Amino acid sequence: MSQRETWATRTGFILAAVGSAVGLGNIWRFPFQTSANGGAAFLVVYLAAVLLIGIPVILAEFAIGRRANVDAVKAFRTLDRPSWRFVGAIGILASFWTLSYYSVVGGWVTRYVAGSVTGNALAAPESYFGAVSAGLPAILTHAIFIAVTIGIVAFGIERGIELATKFMVPSIVVLLLVLAGFAATLPGAGEGYAFFLSPDFGVVAENWQSILPAAFGQALFSLSLGFSVMITYASYLGRDDSLFADGLAIAVTNTFVGVLAGLVVLPLLFAQGVPPGEGGAGAVFIAIPTALAELPGGGLLGQLIGVVFFAVVFIAALSSAISLLEAVVAYAVDTFGISRAPAAIGLGLAGFLLGIPSALDTAWLDWFDGIGVTFFLPIAVLAVVVFVGWIMGDEAVAELRRGSNLTSAGTTWLWMLRTFVLLVVLLIVALNFNDLFLT
Ligand code: PFF
Ligand code: NA
Repeated sequence: MSQRETWATRTGFILAAVGSAVGLGNIWRFPFQTSANGGAAFLVVYLAAVLLIGIPVILAEFAIGRRANVDAVKAFRTLDRPSWRFVGAIGILASFWTLSYYSVVGGWVTRYVAGSVTGNALAAPESYFGAVSAGLPAILTHAIFIAVTIGIVAFGIERGIELATKFMVPSIVVLLLVLAGFAATLPGAGEGYAFFLSPDFGVVAENWQSILPAAFGQALFSLSLGFSVMITYASYLGRDDSLFADGLAIAVTNTFVGVLAGLVVLPLLFAQGVPPGEGGAGAVFIAIPTALAELPGGGLLGQLIGVVFFAVVFIAALSSAISLLEAVVAYAVDTFGISRAPAAIGLGLAGFLLGIPSALDTAWLDWFDGIGVTFFLPIAVLAVVVFVGWIMGDEAVAELRRGSNLTSAGTTWLWMLRTFVLLVVLLIVALNFNDLFLT
């Protein structure tokens, strides 16, 4: 059997994982969640969620992946707990499920890059969105987006994903910095910053029942946890670097990009007098083009900023879609011995077909998103926490200590997983089930 692939460099692994984490979730979901839920006060809750839940769970997925060095289902056989294979299977199913509609939105973004070049996307934002977001045009751009995703995954870990994300992630950061700098020059930007960053602890105190799960759910989804993606990415680690350091670097960069996106989007909307609204699809695809169209320069400045903005969103969405497809492809390759390229093409095509309802009608897209985030994700995360905390136990600690000299941190991490993290994740599962089935 040929040697299994590995990342060529440690930075390559970190950037690929950051590429997975940074996505549509950071650029539209995060700024609006923050501003709607108490501004800087929500930011504090979110940071706590990343630190207390996100980082322990990302390390748990890393420990499984690096220990097993195989896809997220076979991993449990390799770790001598074959009956726990369902944990990896739920995550892979969640990845496949999410890829289907994530690619539909990726297709919209692709269309908006072109629409900013021609100016059509800014001319009549509301009807443009209506025309391109559903039906045949959406199926077409969905096909294009998933074809690009397949193309990169087919080239493999080092020559495909690592090479692509090495350019993509720095581009996202640099371009967002440029856009944030531009947004800062707009008269009235200050109102946007105030809306985004002024803490309102009263809002958090009053609505903690909805804000806590929102912050924790956002933290987990944003870090791509519960999708077997981080298990899969860590399974290609051929070296013993500190997983603590890598996990921390990924979480910090991901949060930084979310904040940076807020510093672009909200000043722009406020400066142009466009109400930020509820967030979501309408915010990115209607409010932003509306604000861009109002910029001085006879529309050309708006088009230019629009091209850059949607290019950033495109790159962010693509590097996340790559990771979703990779988790599924790794399973086909490692478990069934299928070659990578045909696996990427076949599974990508299947994801395309599953995404057709979402491309036909955005109501389907919302339904797919809801099931993925409130059903699959919490269950998979809960299963990972139980497995690593209570089943792997000391073996997971030993894995985490490989390549790091933080000896006591390993034990602290294990007990956090076993107690606090487990309780919080249980609470999130309960709240989501209540929401899904009982109300
Ligand atoms: N983390 C990505 C985002 O915030 O947009 C979405 C995502 C990608 C979730 C990959 C899960 C995943 F496995
Ligand atoms: Na993210």
